[in-house]
Amino acid sequence: MRKSGTLRRQLILWLVTPLLLLWLISTVVDYDIAKRFVNLAYDRALLEVALDIGRNIKNVNQQTYVDLPDVALQMLQSRESGRLYYLVTGPDGEYISGEPQLADPPDDSSDRIRYYDEEFQGREIRVVALRVPVQPGSGKGVALIRVGERVTVRTESAGQLLLRLVLPQAVLIFFAVLAVWYGVGRGLAPLASLKREIEHRSHRDLSPLPQEQAPQEVQPLIRAMNDLLERLSLAIAAQQRFIADAAHQLRTPVAGLKTQTELALRQSQSDAAQVTLRQLQVATEHTIRLINQLLSLARAEHGVTHGYATQPLDLSALARETTTDWVPRALARDIDLGFDAPSDGARIEGDPFLIKEMLGNLLDNAVRYTQPGGQVTVRVAPQARDVILSVEDSGPGIPEAERERVFERFYRALGTGVEGCGLGLAIVREIVLRHGGRVSLEGGGDGIGTVVRVSLPRAA
Ligand SMILES: Nc1ncnc2c1ncn2[C@@H]1O[C@H](COP(=O)(O)OP(=O)(O)OP(=O)(O)O)[C@@H](O)[C@H]1O
Ligand SMILES: [Mg+2]
Repeated sequence: MRKSGTLRRQLILWLVTPLLLLWLISTVVDYDIAKRFVNLAYDRALLEVALDIGRNIKNVNQQTYVDLPDVALQMLQSRESGRLYYLVTGPDGEYISGEPQLADPPDDSSDRIRYYDEEFQGREIRVVALRVPVQPGSGKGVALIRVGERVTVRTESAGQLLLRLVLPQAVLIFFAVLAVWYGVGRGLAPLASLKREIEHRSHRDLSPLPQEQAPQEVQPLIRAMNDLLERLSLAIAAQQRFIADAAHQLRTPVAGLKTQTELALRQSQSDAAQVTLRQLQVATEHTIRLINQLLSLARAEHGVTHGYATQPLDLSALARETTTDWVPRALARDIDLGFDAPSDGARIEGDPFLIKEMLGNLLDNAVRYTQPGGQVTVRVAPQARDVILSVEDSGPGIPEAERERVFERFYRALGTGVEGCGLGLAIVREIVLRHGGRVSLEGGGDGIGTVVRVSLPRAA
């Protein structure tokens, strides 16, 4: 498998490799240029010295000599670029002044000025040879002046020049890499925010990902992802519609079954038949409950049969109405059903049908699982940002280990001895999430009973 490097590393590699190569070539070329210019400058300076010496050649009484003042001599021997060597010979090659060991030009061309490289005292030197007439206009022949200097000074100067040329380029490359590093980070920032968006998303949220802030290059990817999300939510909707349809289709025959069973119960005289028919009646009622719960769940999950429409609601009023509906059932089980809510300040945005459904399921649990003589209290308490709706009972409570699991579909805690399908709390959670709220289960005060606390965002 090919290891995929980061985009940043790849870009930098693609940038740095050619830049370094160019830098290398430029260094070689620059060095050549530096050497050329340094040579030119140093050759000029050598020639200047030779010309200086030439101006000081005197001819008095057929005697040719160089009349160099001591100061000038000292300067020749202690220049900042290193010591200079010189030799002056007369027209017949006779020694006049300077270092006698300084060699002759390699060939005896009669050019006025000649430069050549030599070895002197075991070191490489560069020499200029200058011919000047001993006595201008007299035709008395020419003196040969040689001035030499070690080459090391030149290489050093060329090296320094090169450094000054090449160093800024290296700095430039460094900053280019830095700029690309930073630029890629900046460019990819929208991707990081997209990643966060996907990470923090609930698996239920199949809404399209935001496309606008992403760079153009990434937009096709997001479009494809949104396309997939859309197809996925269509597929899920189709599945939920199927469940809802199936439940709906079952309703009529099961309702018929119930009517027929009740009819048979009334008509039959035999005790044995009565027992069987009663069992049949209970099973039918259980089936009807299951069908209704399935429909509720499908509705809560996608608003299939009943379009999910939010509207401003007064949660206090809605809860009061629903609780009142449950009073007869609570009385039948000898349960004291209480209600406590402020008259206003509990406004939320929601679907009244679903909120009623949710509270209905909580009340159903509280009334059914609490032993006769117990208490159930519904409370609405507005807070700064949320409205808390809680249902408290004095029933058997839910063991801590089960408090997460009871929200799963078809999960039922054992040993309650009460019939149910295990969908009630799953429906509650679905509706709460759909409204952007949270639901939690706690033990009641004094360690008895259960409190289900639902918090829903308060309407502005
Ligand atoms: N108020 C409560 N007191 C004690 N146990 C509870 C209470 N509410 C729920 N439970 C436990 O949680 C389990 C899941 O509850 P849920 O409402 O999801 O399903 P159910 O009541 O069994 O079936 P149904 O779909 O008919 O409501 C129940 O089986 C019960 O054991
Ligand atoms: Mg229930």
